[in-house]
Amino acid sequence: MSLLDLVDVRKSFGPVEALRGVTFSVDAGEAVALLGDNGAGKSTLMKTITGIHRLTSGTIRFAGADLAGQGPGEIRARGIEMIYQDLALARQQDVASNIFLGREPTRRVFGISVIDKPRIEREAEAMIQRLGARVPSVRYLVGNLSGGQQQSVAIARALTFSPKLVIMDEPTAALAVREVEHVLDLVRELKRQGIAVILISHRLTDVFAVCDRVVALRQGQVVADEAIAETSMNAVVAHIVGAA
Ligand SMILES: Nc1ncnc2c1ncn2[C@@H]1O[C@H](COP(=O)(O)OP(=O)(O)O)[C@@H](O)[C@H]1O
Ligand SMILES: [Mg+2]
Repeated sequence: MSLLDLVDVRKSFGPVEALRGVTFSVDAGEAVALLGDNGAGKSTLMKTITGIHRLTSGTIRFAGADLAGQGPGEIRARGIEMIYQDLALARQQDVASNIFLGREPTRRVFGISVIDKPRIEREAEAMIQRLGARVPSVRYLVGNLSGGQQQSVAIARALTFSPKLVIMDEPTAALAVREVEHVLDLVRELKRQGIAVILISHRLTDVFAVCDRVVALRQGQVVADEAIAETSMNAVVAHIVGAA
């Protein structure tokens, strides 16, 4: 049994069959690229895994548990973190606050509960260090950081939930070339720490640089599931567009 096992997962929106029997697995510490054209079903699949959508039929098992009927909170508690393309960061707040957004540790001062800012900064700093992220200071406003740095903040935030699997939606799509390499390093670092990654990306060079396997979707079905070492970019493109 793998860390994540999907078996014959189907999801319909009324008459639209967005997922038509998806089966694949992800092992612990493995990076799997999820590829496919617009409308292939990638986002629907990720939202089904994270509990935002309820599957129509099929099975999703994660770390030995059946995720059927579980909501986003329960699934996150089991160790799946999703980093959305818009990153969901608060641009007007600093790095440290963003890493603990919505669950800031508190301390009591004269019997009143206040946000423990020193502790937030200390722990945020430790998280940035652990990741090897290049962020100038945890006191920097997130809105003033580059796209790659914001991506690191989102990954650091995900790490505070101690995930076993991190799903990233197009993490390099909006980045300058020299920032892409840093984000790919962060993906490698997650793998080194035994964390599995599902990387949704259109950039095949990125996929081939960090992923172990590719899974390609077309019209809601898996059309390829191959080890990176045993395939080529041309073969993958042919699967995505339906020429193979
Ligand atoms: N909430 C929804 N309601 C109805 N149809 C949807 C919904 N979400 C996605 N779809 C449809 O499901 C299919 C797959 O979409 P999506 O998962 O967003 O693809 P991708 O992320 O690969 O571009 C498309 O036909 C899309 O129109
Ligand atoms: Mg999508």
